[in-house]
Amino acid sequence: MTEQNPNLSFGVDIGGSGVKAAIVDLKTGEFVTERLKIATPQPAEPDAVAEVVLQLMQEAAWDGPVGITVPAVVKNQITRSAANIGGDWIGTDCQELFHRHLGDREIAVLNDADAAGLAEVAYGDEAARSGAVMLLTFGTGIGSALLMDGNLYPNSELGHLPFEDTTSEKWASSAVKEKEDLSFKEWAKRVDQVMHLYGKLFSPQTFVVGGGISRKADKWIPRLTVEQKVVPAQLRNQAGIVGAAMAVRNGFRP
Ligand code: BGC
Repeated sequence: MTEQNPNLSFGVDIGGSGVKAAIVDLKTGEFVTERLKIATPQPAEPDAVAEVVLQLMQEAAWDGPVGITVPAVVKNQITRSAANIGGDWIGTDCQELFHRHLGDREIAVLNDADAAGLAEVAYGDEAARSGAVMLLTFGTGIGSALLMDGNLYPNSELGHLPFEDTTSEKWASSAVKEKEDLSFKEWAKRVDQVMHLYGKLFSPQTFVVGGGISRKADKWIPRLTVEQKVVPAQLRNQAGIVGAAMAVRNGFRP
């Protein structure tokens, strides 16, 4: 693939159930190839997951820079938490790990929700880049990105905020909806509760809500009663891949 073209980049989004990737055109934020997906290896430990990233890169015939999201806190390219992936990620030097598996190329690793935030700022709704914005992704967990006029405050991890006698992501992620077989009405009520809490603590102007379940935005967004503006993520669940692809070309390495 034409990896010498600086407008093209490769983004990989490591999730609790799947590792997804595509070549992205950074001029438009669109995929140049179809989205590739391989089930996340279980246990999802660093070497096994990095092998899957290599497989995706080979499938896409890509040989350029690679941006990678992880569902974890990333500081100085070291993963510091592991809620929905293998415990060995804690303390993993991601530059060392991915260079060992993917060879000599530019690599950037960042939190999945932060990547989605960067992508929505660049290619999504105007509201995503105006003022204080909280982006939330609903999937295996709840991811969060805090943005001010398009600038990111990384690693906010609001899914782990205590809620009732559990945490907000164990109460209202879309995985919980599936596990407990909640209707959209029942689940939206939980999402609304956690968004009220987040709203009270952070007073964003706008919530941008994403994750796979944003495909069915009309089934739950209208049920939310928060006072803030709520807009569905424009890039839906592609935002992680796009944000990862952007990060590596922009030299963003939290
Ligand atoms: C992780 C976050 C991640 C979110 C969404 C949480 O469990 O701690 O880092 O952004 O899930 O994947």
